[in-house]
Amino acid sequence: MSIVFIIQSSTIELKNYTIKDIPGSSGRLDVISRAILAALMGENGIEQNVEIWVFLDNYGTFIFKSNNLDENTFPKNEILLSDYFVKIILKGSDPKSLDKNPLNMVEHVHLNVIDAIENFKECNYQILILHEEGEDFYPLFTNLDKQSKLLFIIGNQIGEMLNSEDLMHFDFKRISLGKQKYLASSVIRLLKLNLRLIL
Ligand SMILES: C[S@@+](CC[C@H](N)C(=O)[O-])C[C@H]1O[C@@H](n2cnc3c(N)ncnc32)[C@H](O)[C@@H]1O
Repeated sequence: MSIVFIIQSSTIELKNYTIKDIPGSSGRLDVISRAILAALMGENGIEQNVEIWVFLDNYGTFIFKSNNLDENTFPKNEILLSDYFVKIILKGSDPKSLDKNPLNMVEHVHLNVIDAIENFKECNYQILILHEEGEDFYPLFTNLDKQSKLLFIIGNQIGEMLNSEDLMHFDFKRISLGKQKYLASSVIRLLKLNLRLIL
């Protein structure tokens, strides 16, 4: 099974970034970092065939592919991951400074979220929006198998993008993991847990 998560944020701003106060000095990069860890880390280390595409309005698109990660060097805690990620985002004109950065395999592309979604559609990914008011996920998951290719669109701390006109235009199914409002990282973990139980 191939799983891709998409999360977008317009709030990430790093000009006053400090590791001492990541949430307050980055526009909530902590939310994104927790979602990245929730997507890429499984029960026994780094997942297989999982990607998370992070769309930062102010800095571009960053693609994390679990199969490209090194289990020994990948930063598995939120603060370390955030700090290395900021260095990747702000790499400036000296890419050599990234040689020792364990995230230097993260792809930085200039692709907007709607074009990316179009590409996944063309690649026959089943595309689902995660939303607490969506329909129950379970009936949809029972038809999945190991060859399934799934793309999940998830909102950030303010649920950005989920209500965007561009996204509504696609009319993708909205699925819910219950009426409770979870953090983005918790939804990702809950979703993967359910997929493991069902498959
Ligand atoms: C912290 S929540 C966003 C809360 C935000 N204030 C809102 O009103 O959308 C982050 C994202 O997790 C997903 N989410 C949260 N609870 C969910 C649930 N019960 N079922 C499915 N997705 C959920 C949605 O994509 C949501 O945008």
